[in-house]
Amino acid sequence: MKNHHSLMLLCIVMLVICQNLGNVEGRYHFHKKQKSKTSNIVSPAYAPSPEDPISQPPDYPPPVPSDQSYAPAPSDMSDPGNSTTDCIFDVRSFGAVGDGDNDDTAAFRDAWKEACQVESGVVLVPSDGTFMITSTIFSGPCKSGLVFQVDGVLMPPNGPDCWPKSDSSKQWLVFYRLDDMTLTGTGTIEGNGQKWWDLPCKPHKGPGGSTLPGPCESPALIRFFMSSNLVVTGLRIQNSPQFHMKFDGCRGVLINRLSISSPKLSPNTDGIHIENTKSVGIYNSVIGNGDDCISIGTGCSDVDIEAVTCGPSHGISIGSLGVQNSRACVSNITVRNAIIKDSDNGLRIKTWQGGSGSVTGIWFENIQMENVRNCLIVDQYYCLSKACRNQTSAVYLTDVTYRNIKGTYDVRSPPIHFACSDSVACTNITMSEVELLPYEGVLVDDPFCWNAYGTQETLTIPPIDCLQDGMPQSLAENSLYDC
Ligand SMILES: *[C@@H]1O[C@H](CO)[C@@H](O)[C@H](O)[C@H]1NC(C)=O
Ligand SMILES: *[C@@H]1O[C@H](CO)[C@@H](O)[C@H](O)[C@H]1NC(C)=O
Ligand SMILES: *[C@@H]1O[C@H](CO)[C@@H](O)[C@H](O)[C@H]1NC(C)=O
Ligand SMILES: *[C@@H]1O[C@H](CO)[C@@H](O)[C@H](O)[C@H]1NC(C)=O
Repeated sequence: MKNHHSLMLLCIVMLVICQNLGNVEGRYHFHKKQKSKTSNIVSPAYAPSPEDPISQPPDYPPPVPSDQSYAPAPSDMSDPGNSTTDCIFDVRSFGAVGDGDNDDTAAFRDAWKEACQVESGVVLVPSDGTFMITSTIFSGPCKSGLVFQVDGVLMPPNGPDCWPKSDSSKQWLVFYRLDDMTLTGTGTIEGNGQKWWDLPCKPHKGPGGSTLPGPCESPALIRFFMSSNLVVTGLRIQNSPQFHMKFDGCRGVLINRLSISSPKLSPNTDGIHIENTKSVGIYNSVIGNGDDCISIGTGCSDVDIEAVTCGPSHGISIGSLGVQNSRACVSNITVRNAIIKDSDNGLRIKTWQGGSGSVTGIWFENIQMENVRNCLIVDQYYCLSKACRNQTSAVYLTDVTYRNIKGTYDVRSPPIHFACSDSVACTNITMSEVELLPYEGVLVDDPFCWNAYGTQETLTIPPIDCLQDGMPQSLAENSLYDC
């Protein structure tokens, strides 16, 4: 209690300082940027997990060269911080109760509004409470260096019956039109997903194991939309009703040291989904859920994934792309030093028939598989209904490298499956040091390829003799594949 009081006092003092700063800015239209932007990032206490990735994961993400301004330098992150310059807006000072029951939305909105107006403002969700808020869009533009720091527990209403009818049931925490913002903390974002997963419109959750017709919308837990230079670190994010984190229309995203978890059978609970987003680094994170560990949709490029552990999950997925004859472009994606275990897929690229555009410059390196179905899979016939028509165009897949991919597969499906489009072959698939053995049971040494071209630099295990040399004759220059 004593700590609590002194914390409150501190916060009030901070508030006064911040408000004065704000007033000064207001009066004098003082627009000069303070250059203390990273000083208030309380370094996240990341508990190293026994499941941490193989082969010396980088302690901190390697520099992501592209966009200079998007990642704070490592030295800044480990800095204990200079709290005398912080502007902390504790949600309790705005009336949040934090008993897990009260609706604290108004307090969060008010804290956000104030923090947004000062340089390096911090919305603080203190460690000694469980805060419930309803679906909220935290929007900018805000002053730079804004931090949303969750040290306690933050959660949405518990299930669809408690969801206010007037709120969107597609999303919960939304960050919109922000630049240079951090979401961090030592706490937990708890999704309360169970009642959503059990809706009778979810697969096999209806009477007698049926699936009742939808709509079956469930909220994505955290969404970043139309924003840039984002950092998300340290948090535990769990039990989302649907996707845990979603980025769309963003540029410059650094994700580090997250723990994301949901049960293996929770439907549609992708860990991190990105689309139309460029310059992304995802590092040192552990993800276990009921769907894709990381999914990469159309319009993504320059994505670097390193030292991530997935499982159980549906693996790391590019796609699905080209739905309804759309043009899809994905390029320059690297996945390195990852572990994928107990998963339905390992590394998957999936496209619908009839699309256009391309997937190019994909690099999978140093991946350890443990008991994974479909370790390496390209599926250019992706179809939800099993009734998709054969079409004459497809998203073109080229320059895909699989290097040092080792471990074990679940024998229920062949470990390597390259089903490329009839009309558009996959080209320049490079395989090197790919060695996959059965986790248990009988070897399925029956890799499958259809219309797939490339080279093996070393002997693949199981042996793969269906990959064709050179280039297909029919592959003409074609503007369909331009991006
Ligand atoms: C904090 O800021 C003050 C004033 O700018 C400075 O004198 C001090 O050295 C800083 N402390 C740390 C730990 O950076
Ligand atoms: C590929 O992406 C990385 C970041 O992930 C970036 O640094 C690099 O410049 C990109 N390469 C190309 C050729 O675009
Ligand atoms: C699509 O093409 C495949 C392979 O040529 C063929 O087996 C299948 O019957 C075709 N499906 C339809 C719906 O035409
Ligand atoms: C094949 O892919 C590799 C790796 O992406 C690339 O370095 C090489 O230039 C490509 N080869 C051709 C002929 O395009």
